[in-house]
Amino acid sequence: MKAVAIKAFGGPEGLAVIDLPAPVPGAGQVLIATEAIGVGGVDAVIRSGALAAYGFTEGHIPGGEVAGTVIAVGDDVDTSWIGQRVWASTGVGGGYVEQAVAPVEEIVPLPADLSAVDAVTLGSSGVVAHFALAHAHFAPGESVLVRGAAGSIGILAVQLAARGGAGAVAVTTSSAERGERLRKLGATHVLDRSGEGGEDAPTGYDIVIDVVAGPDLPSFLDRLNPNGRLVVVGVVGGQPPADFGTTMMAAFRKSLSFATFSADTVAASDRRAVRIEQFAAAERDALHAVVHEVLPLEQAVLAHRKMDAGEVFGRIVLTP
Ligand SMILES: NC(=O)c1ccc[n+]([C@@H]2O[C@H](COP(=O)([O-])OP(=O)(O)OC[C@H]3O[C@@H](n4cnc5c(N)ncnc54)[C@H](OP(=O)(O)O)[C@@H]3O)[C@@H](O)[C@H]2O)c1
Repeated sequence: MKAVAIKAFGGPEGLAVIDLPAPVPGAGQVLIATEAIGVGGVDAVIRSGALAAYGFTEGHIPGGEVAGTVIAVGDDVDTSWIGQRVWASTGVGGGYVEQAVAPVEEIVPLPADLSAVDAVTLGSSGVVAHFALAHAHFAPGESVLVRGAAGSIGILAVQLAARGGAGAVAVTTSSAERGERLRKLGATHVLDRSGEGGEDAPTGYDIVIDVVAGPDLPSFLDRLNPNGRLVVVGVVGGQPPADFGTTMMAAFRKSLSFATFSADTVAASDRRAVRIEQFAAAERDALHAVVHEVLPLEQAVLAHRKMDAGEVFGRIVLTP
């Protein structure tokens, strides 16, 4: 089968199309003929070599989510899965392939009218956005700021906060055009990347959902209301300054909460339940999958170039 692997750490040109034997699903696994493969921000980080210290090596096949049809199952897996269209998490890699293996507890049946492309745009990001808001103890009426809202996680967080009855949904983004698109998805105020601008924007927020982190993180802590909660779900802007804790302590009397959130800490059964609910919502148009572009698997290099250039609003999807 055709696959895309990281032949050399560094730029997108380090990705190469290779031929591999079709995998055989092990116990508890299914084999999926892929129709759509989600391209995640973390794929580009792994490709760059920045996570080599965490065990990623050259030869790694990127891609954490796919959708397609189950064509074989391993031992102990119900054979009635064969022939079903599913979304699947393949973990931290193994997705850029024509045939992917996934643990059976990480697959979700696709509703009849949800495309594979939409499923891989929603499947991972929707769960992160949902549980990040829950981690922040979001309640209707509260004001929410989504930092880094133009990515697939942010787009879902904006929609879920708006759908959940937020009093205000502010976003940070780098362009007015993106701001307009985010307004159509539920944003009420559009700020620049530093959190400035946005006519009549709230002066403080109950919740910040932060995909960016980086050097500006302390200034977003400063934007919290008393009892406010900031939840970091991504680090596309890098690490915060070393004295970040000092900012937190300086605001002691505001009773702020700072948290990180990873979907890895959510039980597979809970992630599955939310995906089923979100896929059904997308099928009835209550949740929108924002697909930036669909490209053939062979053009993974181009997909990564576009990601590295910051061109992507939503998600790029590869098709085998
Ligand atoms: N918590 C979890 O369980 C989980 C799961 C999967 C992935 N992740 C993490 O989530 C992140 C990727 O999420 P994503 O795909 O939604 O994001 P993304 O598309 O990579 O980035 C989101 C947006 O952030 C803005 N941005 C980029 N660099 C910035 C910077 N230096 N300063 C300020 N804004 C910047 C860009 O929008 P503008 O140009 O419009 O500002 C970009 O569209 C990664 O860090 C990944 O590891 C977390």
